[in-house]
Amino acid sequence: MMPRNHRTLGLCPPGRCRLLFAVLLAGGSLGGGAAGAAAPPAAFMPGQVWLDTEGNPIDAHGGGVLQHRGVYYWYGEARGQLSRGAVACYSSTNLLDWKREGAVLPPSSLPRVNDRRTFVERPKVIFNPSTKKFVMWMHLEQGGYRFSRAGIALSDTPVGTFTFLEALRPIANTNDFASLASDPARQKEFGATFRDMNLFVDEDGRAYVFYSAEDNWTMYVVRLNAAFTGPELPAVENKTWAKILVRRMREGVAPFKHRGNYFLVTSACTGWTPNQADCAVADNILGPYRSLGNPCRGPDSDRTFGAQSTFVLPAPGSPGCFIFMADRWVSFNLSDSRYVWLPLEFDAEGTPIVPWREHWSLPLTGKSDPGK
Ligand code: GAL
Repeated sequence: MMPRNHRTLGLCPPGRCRLLFAVLLAGGSLGGGAAGAAAPPAAFMPGQVWLDTEGNPIDAHGGGVLQHRGVYYWYGEARGQLSRGAVACYSSTNLLDWKREGAVLPPSSLPRVNDRRTFVERPKVIFNPSTKKFVMWMHLEQGGYRFSRAGIALSDTPVGTFTFLEALRPIANTNDFASLASDPARQKEFGATFRDMNLFVDEDGRAYVFYSAEDNWTMYVVRLNAAFTGPELPAVENKTWAKILVRRMREGVAPFKHRGNYFLVTSACTGWTPNQADCAVADNILGPYRSLGNPCRGPDSDRTFGAQSTFVLPAPGSPGCFIFMADRWVSFNLSDSRYVWLPLEFDAEGTPIVPWREHWSLPLTGKSDPGK
């Protein structure tokens, strides 16, 4: 539809942007377009169907983005027909045009536990420069959401295929969770649960996993070992790991760092139903974190624009600006869930804000007017 060079920087040529936007709006649900029938958009269009370079809707939910040697890799839950149950990967150099790299962790490589299948949610990938491995962490689950473990997989290349390593709970059972569990027989087991998660590599090269623990009551942040394949051992509370957002029941954690501060965008725990986001800040990655309130601005901002946080990515060519990534889940047809990617900028007080935009382009100026 458009020469690729017009899109390489994510810039939207005047006129074209509105035209494409209108075309996509008129198309409504463009699901399953044949190659050549439709092209990726020329601007970010939160909540609209987002086509890959072959004209198929991007299928990478609850995902995250890794930047490696000038290429972005988007990993997420495949919910569509092509590779349902896999971790899907797409690659891009401009964050708009995404080429499907396929199923980088097929469901057949996941373990069966007690003769029941496991499935993946919220996969994330980081690169370990010492081992030269791409390390995937995920929420590994079974029907009923009680298995609740971290799954770890490794690959020599960003596009897989990843090999499943093991399923674990990074931090052993905690004592003070016992009083909160509804099922006494499983109190200890619930105490170490691992559900919605994210990875973060700090400027010093050390990596951390953030996850909803204690049956989602409390979030944990845990420093990883040198290979990024498990927790740093011995695990010492408030030295190598910490309880954060204690008993606040948060999930969908999306960490980022700006000017020495660590920020966490999170959601409340209401399943596939959207709720109000929160942004918390700390000057130490292990906390304590202080809530700054809801970063979203504009229509439907008390429901995160109908979406749930999944990742925050530094915006290329846009100093001090980030991209907030969220999933607008469609619970009765998860493959039709949409992506809500929006600018995340800082207001005059230095507080992160995510203003709603019907469409937007890179680079960001950091001067979004939340009133518009
Ligand atoms: C949400 C969670 C999703 C998925 C869903 C299942 O709370 O963020 O990743 O687990 O529940 O209901």
